[in-house]
Amino acid sequence: MPDSENENIEIKCLVEAIYQKYGYDFREYAWDSLKRRVMAILKEQKIKNISQMQHRIIYDKAFFLLLLSNLTVNVTQMFRNPSFYRKLRKNIFPRFKEYPFIKIWIAGCSTGEEAYSIAITLKEEGLYKKSQIYATDISIPVLEKAKQGIFPVGMMKDYTNNYREGGGKKSFSEYYTAKYDHTILDKTLRDNITFADHNLATDSSFGVMDIICCRNVFIYFTRSLQSHVLKLFNESLNHGGILCMGSQESIMFIEDAVDYFEELSSTESIYIKK
Ligand SMILES: C[S@@+](CC[C@H](N)C(=O)[O-])C[C@H]1O[C@@H](n2cnc3c(N)ncnc32)[C@H](O)[C@@H]1O
Repeated sequence: MPDSENENIEIKCLVEAIYQKYGYDFREYAWDSLKRRVMAILKEQKIKNISQMQHRIIYDKAFFLLLLSNLTVNVTQMFRNPSFYRKLRKNIFPRFKEYPFIKIWIAGCSTGEEAYSIAITLKEEGLYKKSQIYATDISIPVLEKAKQGIFPVGMMKDYTNNYREGGGKKSFSEYYTAKYDHTILDKTLRDNITFADHNLATDSSFGVMDIICCRNVFIYFTRSLQSHVLKLFNESLNHGGILCMGSQESIMFIEDAVDYFEELSSTESIYIKK
């Protein structure tokens, strides 16, 4: 049997061991990117083979947490894909102007940049006070970072450009204070955000929402996990609720999607619950 096939068997056993021991389910993650990440950690940590890695994961929780933070890709930005925020301001948020209360779930929020960007957009559109944002992720370390709302000062130039391109109405610097090499976001942006641990693969609905954003997360899932999570989103949305995916993540090819959702924007991958 070629080495790569043996490696595949070992990685499948590793993923099963993680699930049995810690309850984190990576069994339905897109294979190539999962394998790439496992092999990179193997090399970086100078571990002889995957079986040895499995032994360490079972007996050493700190090592497991290190692996976990490497298996989940946490790349994010404030106002990532600015045209999405323009669409929110122009076409999506106005639908909720008359609502007494708006519940928004940001699933796979990473270190919080997306949640804070949505909070700023809601504020500028006069909707923040009646909104509650639930921002969730599988990874506890990224959630701890998200709660702090502290970001490297070096990112602010790009974020300012994104904010402007996304239709920002003020000077972006009004939302943070710079201190040495980092910036602290305006604490009031956190008032209506709850950060919580939630695993899309294994946990049940997080409550009934008006808007769900799950951007740049589905790309890491197999089609069958995507289909499972889409059902969860359908159950978790009010009638006429909005689902926002990453711009490259059309859901229209996922099983049953057309039964649950209608496309509102193909360029921004925004859908309405039927
Ligand atoms: C690439 S980031 C996307 C962050 C943000 N949504 C954005 O678009 O910038 C993907 C996030 O999904 C999270 N994630 C991966 N698997 C998950 C799961 N099963 N349940 C919840 N979050 C998950 C990762 O921890 C990571 O923070």
